[in-house]
Amino acid sequence: MTKIKATNITWHEGHVSRGERENLLNQKGCLIWTTGLSGSGKSTIAYTLEHALVQRGHLCYVLDGDNIRHGLNKNLGFSAEDREENIRRLGEVGKLFVDAGLITITAFISPYRKDRDIARQTVGPDSFFEVLCDAPMDICEQRDPKGLYKKARAGEIKGFTGVDDPYEAPEHPEMVIDTSKTSPQEAAVALCEMLENAGKIPTLTE
Ligand code: ADX
Repeated sequence: MTKIKATNITWHEGHVSRGERENLLNQKGCLIWTTGLSGSGKSTIAYTLEHALVQRGHLCYVLDGDNIRHGLNKNLGFSAEDREENIRRLGEVGKLFVDAGLITITAFISPYRKDRDIARQTVGPDSFFEVLCDAPMDICEQRDPKGLYKKARAGEIKGFTGVDDPYEAPEHPEMVIDTSKTSPQEAAVALCEMLENAGKIPTLTE
């Protein structure tokens, strides 16, 4: 899926640079890639951060696993190959959004280290922040917001991440958030600080 199939295609450069778009928006395009088990709080943190950034006047967009699987990735399931393709496409969409100047936040389990590393390379390491939502497995299972752990334990879902499918935690994430101890608001504050320190958004002035 990663080789170019089409022939006779030519890359066109536009007249407006990424930098010009970023100047318009007073922010630098970047991608905050959350990863973690189902129920670890990825989507909650992503939407809380989006809200916090928009309140500060920034243009953001959340790409959420369950939502993207209703449309762009509706033809993919949960085999290792399909998860790889899911993440590959999201890396490519993320790259476009970042080039548009958007602060993009993704919420995908993205269980395989290799696939996340490819997304990092696709987007560009300077624009990519990997954030591990690190709630312990038993807490994710207690939360079970969609009732899926229960189904997986009952054998009604096969290959469920953390139950009978692997999750490979990142070795060098830009941030680790223990969502059993940190509120979504606290996480959003820490992430805004991370973006300020990296020069992606200006520091708030009194
Ligand atoms: S990923 O592994 O390819 O990154 P993604 O984040 O898009 O997964 O989708 C995960 C969501 O799909 C979960 O939050 C859950 O609601 C649902 N889901 C359904 N089946 C599975 C499964 N076998 N493993 C994990 N999540 C599943």
